[in-house]
Amino acid sequence: MFPSRLSFAHLPTPVETLPRLTRFLGGPGLFVKRDDQTGLALGGNKTRKLEFLLAEAQTLGADHIVTAGAVQSNHCRQTAAAAARFGLKCTLILSGAPPARADGNLWLDHLFGAEIRWCEPSQRQAMLQQTVEELRQQGARPYLVPYGGSSPTGVLGYVLAMQEFLQQGLSADAILFASSSGGTQAGLVLGARLFGYRGRLIGISVNEPRGVLQQRVAELATQTAQRLGERLEILPQEIEVEDEWARPGYGVLTEAEKEAIRLFARQEGLLLDPVYTGRAAAGLLSLIRRGAFSAGQTVLFWHTGGTPALFAARYAEGFE
Ligand SMILES: Cc1ncc(COP(=O)(O)O)c(C=O)c1O
Repeated sequence: MFPSRLSFAHLPTPVETLPRLTRFLGGPGLFVKRDDQTGLALGGNKTRKLEFLLAEAQTLGADHIVTAGAVQSNHCRQTAAAAARFGLKCTLILSGAPPARADGNLWLDHLFGAEIRWCEPSQRQAMLQQTVEELRQQGARPYLVPYGGSSPTGVLGYVLAMQEFLQQGLSADAILFASSSGGTQAGLVLGARLFGYRGRLIGISVNEPRGVLQQRVAELATQTAQRLGERLEILPQEIEVEDEWARPGYGVLTEAEKEAIRLFARQEGLLLDPVYTGRAAAGLLSLIRRGAFSAGQTVLFWHTGGTPALFAARYAEGFE
């Protein structure tokens, strides 16, 4: 049923209890699924997607991986690492201007030997196409990994992640996670449908309005189902998205993220990242404080990684 994948992720990722944080908040029982520990260059949610994407690249005979992201993109860092690991060249299209000093994820992109091209955010798609064309003209065989690794191929990684979680034998009334390009949420939603998870799947939007993300996730989940030969349609209104914390904009570190990052660090010794999991955890704290869950319920926080961005000066300085 599933196409082949490469095997380099450290799976299953552990599920841990968060007893001190649970007591501190006085709300539902909290657990965390440690996809920050998936292996591959400090881990994160892209490892699961890249197992399928790199397998597809190999099947197509690709020798060069091309993808795009923000300056501190976790997706780009992990894609560059995967390319290095399988002996493929890698070009990253990063939005913005090169900073004076490459730190956090960007420093790791350099370490993995990726070629970096800079562009204005509005030019990203054009630059991707142009890069792929240029490489073809030079005789290379490029494989384009979509933004966030969120194609039906990448989404398969999170369909299986849901199966993995269910096989771990723990129940959760709700699963909450950061959602942006939508692949993680699409995979979890489809996995829930295929493998029988009936709790809530709450995507905390990092940068998109609710309706946009619902539409994207529903389309991706439906396309992925078709890829698996399943005749089912997932509708936007079935996708639960909270977009309140996305309003300050992508990568804008507010007091809400800082409080969540400090709280997870000081209550549980657990690191979150400033852009994605810090924002998702800020949403979790607010929902608990508003009484969205009862004390008898259990909520799983699916940690999607991103911690190298903590070491980028632009975010670290925000904590001073
Ligand atoms: C650490 C982290 N968490 C969550 C996400 C969001 O995942 P998705 O793009 O699949 O919605 C990303 C995307 O880059 C990420 O880097």
